[in-house]
Formats: sequence, structure tokens, C-alpha cells
Amino acid sequence: MSNLTFGIIKPDAVRKGHTGKIIDKILADGFRIRGMKLIHQTIKNAEGFYAVHSERPFFGELTEFMSSGPCVVLALEKENAVKAWRDLMGATNPAEAAEGTLRKEFAGSIGENAVHGSDSDENAAIEIAYFFSKLELV
Ligand code: RTP
Ligand code: MG
Repeated sequence: MSNLTFGIIKPDAVRKGHTGKIIDKILADGFRIRGMKLIHQTIKNAEGFYAVHSERPFFGELTEFMSSGPCVVLALEKENAVKAWRDLMGATNPAEAAEGTLRKEFAGSIGENAVHGSDSDENAAIEIAYFFSKLELV
């Protein structure tokens, strides 16, 4: 089990002004922020990031949304980080997200669901390397 995971504060949450509140909750939950930057992805970049979903019916919608505005990319450290961050995010569909989770509080729909988190240690390493250079990881 690795102590690093990758997260995104998605364009819907940034647009609504929730960035600061989400970062507060990340720190309050005991994560250490090892990397953080505000970026605006091109559609090509989003397609590369979500390539595993390229055959899914929502791929076009998803990549358009992820490139629709600025987002915050994060490298997060905590014991058992992948699970800890997914626990804080809550279920993909905010209607099913538990009380106290970020998606319960900030997500509007399954498509625009405020945050992303890696689903395995292997993907966390790939996703961190997709967005951060070594210099940007402290
Ligand atoms: P994420 O990768 O963004 O952290 O979300 P997740 O693991 O909870 O969900 P995943 O199955 O990996 O789906 C990736 C993202 O695709 C969008 N989605 N839309 N319209 C739909 O039915 C649908 N299903 C998934 C969501 O934005 C989801 O976070
Ligand atoms: Mg996923």
C-alpha cells in the first residue's frame, strides 16, 4: 500500500468557488499536500487522462467537462492514501454519497461530481506522473 494518491478538484467545483473549502477539508482529514497546481486542460489532455474510459458512452461528455475550465491537480500523502482519499470523496454519484463526504457536499451530478481520485496505487503513480514533474513534488 502506497502513501500517495492523485486528486483533482474538477472544473465544476472550481467554477462554484469551492476550491478553498475542499482544500481545508483535505488538510483537516490529515492529508499532506505534496503537489498542487491550477491548470486548464485541453480536450486532448483530458482524453489522455481518461483513456481507460474511451469506450464508455459518457466519454465525450466527460472529456468536454474536464476541459471546460480550470481545475486543481493534487498529489496527496496519507497512510493508505488511495482508499483514504476515495473515502473522503464519497460515491461517484452524489445521490449515493455518504454524509460528510466531498461529493455529498459539493457535487451536483454524476457527471459533474466535484473531485477525482485514483482507484489504485498503480494508477496513482501514473496519474501523478501525468501532471507533475519531479520539481513540482515537494
Ligand atoms: P473519478 O475517476 O473521476 O475519480 O470517479 P470514479 O472513480 O468515482 O468514477 P469512474 O467510474 O472512474 O468514472 C469517471 C468519471 O466519469 C464520470 N461518469 N459519468 N454519466 C455517467 O453515467 C457517468 N459515469 C461516470 C464521472 O465524472 C466519474 O467521476
Ligand atoms: Mg475513476
